[in-house]
Amino acid sequence: MRIPPLIAPSLLSADFMRLAEELDFLKNAGADAVHVDVMDGRFTPNITIGLPVVEALRRETRLVIDCHLMIAEPLKYAVDFVKAGADWVSVHQEADMHLHRTVTAIKNAGAKVGVALNPSTPIEVLTDILDDLDFVLLMSVNPGFSGQAFIERTLDKARRLDALRQERGASFFIQVDGGINSANAQSLINAGADCLVAGNAIFKAPNPTDALREIKARMVG
Ligand code: DX5
Ligand code: ZN
Repeated sequence: MRIPPLIAPSLLSADFMRLAEELDFLKNAGADAVHVDVMDGRFTPNITIGLPVVEALRRETRLVIDCHLMIAEPLKYAVDFVKAGADWVSVHQEADMHLHRTVTAIKNAGAKVGVALNPSTPIEVLTDILDDLDFVLLMSVNPGFSGQAFIERTLDKARRLDALRQERGASFFIQVDGGINSANAQSLINAGADCLVAGNAIFKAPNPTDALREIKARMVG
């Protein structure tokens, strides 16, 4: 059973001087979640947002806060992100040698838990953790920056993950993140994606509300 398609705009492309207004815009334009890209300069070649910002967002919004932890040793911080107000937390398989421990800790802290895969990481690495997950995040760019080009092969990866989900009768949802816009949203939904993350295509558009609605309008199977 698939959930209705969700859009989770990435705050990384927002105006950081005006986050409260950006949250209002997202709510009014029909976003389902706000995607927060946390980077540590170790797992990713960039440093972005941390715990105090997530706490501030939580005070300001009732939208689902989706924290994508692109950090080394995620177990050190994952539960703190839940305590700061994250509703969903995803960690990278490549960054964690004890993924089951981290996934269990996030779940026990009360958030939905996801595992993210880099473009080069095969879905098979999830075989023995899949049943514990609420979602899988397929990266369609290499983690680090917004505004990169969509890696087309992700479509096939989503199809294979969707097939695996059906085969196992599993209920995790599939999130895809990176280079998403109104031109590729529909093919992603058709390939089995349930939740699309988009940064530049929304926040850098001449009219962000129209851009978000346009992507959402394409998110039908
Ligand atoms: C990349 C991040 C993405 C990205 C999305 O490392 O995880 O969430 O910022 O931005 P766009 O849609 O601009 O690729
Ligand atoms: Zn992300």
